[in-house]
Amino acid sequence: MTLNNRKIIITGGATREWIDPVRYISNASSGKMGIALADAAFQRSRQTVFIHGQIENELIRNKQYRTILIETTLALMDAVLSELAPGTIVIMAAAPVDFKPRAFSAVKIKKEDSSEEINLSLIKNPDILKKISMQRIENNSLNNIYITGFAAETNNLEQNALQKLEKKGIDMICLNDVSKSDSGFNSDNNKITVYTKSGGKTELPLMSKHEAAGRILDLIEIDLEKI
Ligand code: CTP
Repeated sequence: MTLNNRKIIITGGATREWIDPVRYISNASSGKMGIALADAAFQRSRQTVFIHGQIENELIRNKQYRTILIETTLALMDAVLSELAPGTIVIMAAAPVDFKPRAFSAVKIKKEDSSEEINLSLIKNPDILKKISMQRIENNSLNNIYITGFAAETNNLEQNALQKLEKKGIDMICLNDVSKSDSGFNSDNNKITVYTKSGGKTELPLMSKHEAAGRILDLIEIDLEKI
């Protein structure tokens, strides 16, 4: 099934959670995989939107598709949920921060005021993929959306990826081993294994993120035929 009449939402880059006006916690993510996916998606559907955290200007310059810059995990979630429409394909390549500081300090925390040790109390952010799959269950008009996630893992790769696929209630998960330096964060290449809810497993060789993005979209098209 081709994607040309489908809206495609791609997310990329990391979110940020501010501690005080000068410090934040974030995740490692260059946004390159997200951009590669958005570029590839736009070739198949003009209804592509890229929702992203702070990424290098150079990477995002002169894109023809719609882009939405967000900062926090909650803002990313709100933006994705408000873009959902019947038939949408969602690919969550973003690295949302899972925790945020319990309290934001409006003034810069001075190191003189603290002892040698400083404790930062964090609270959990929502899981965006879970929220999207809940929306699919609760909202009839969204029952035909297709949801893809990524699993950035360092160990127990397949087991962790399959667990995420099931726990998040999504259709596809793209596993990448982020312990390898020739793929994953900041690299131009990636080595991805794609698992689908319908039981498919496709091991892609090491290839450029742009190539991998095309292959992931091909696999989504193939999987849509089966649903
Ligand atoms: N993700 C999400 N909401 C979050 C965190 C992650 O939707 N709050 C998405 C990511 O965009 C990715 C997938 O979930 O598509 C897996 O992200 P990952 O960081 O590998 O796993 P987590 O779900 O955060 O679990 P853990 O950190 O325990 O591995």
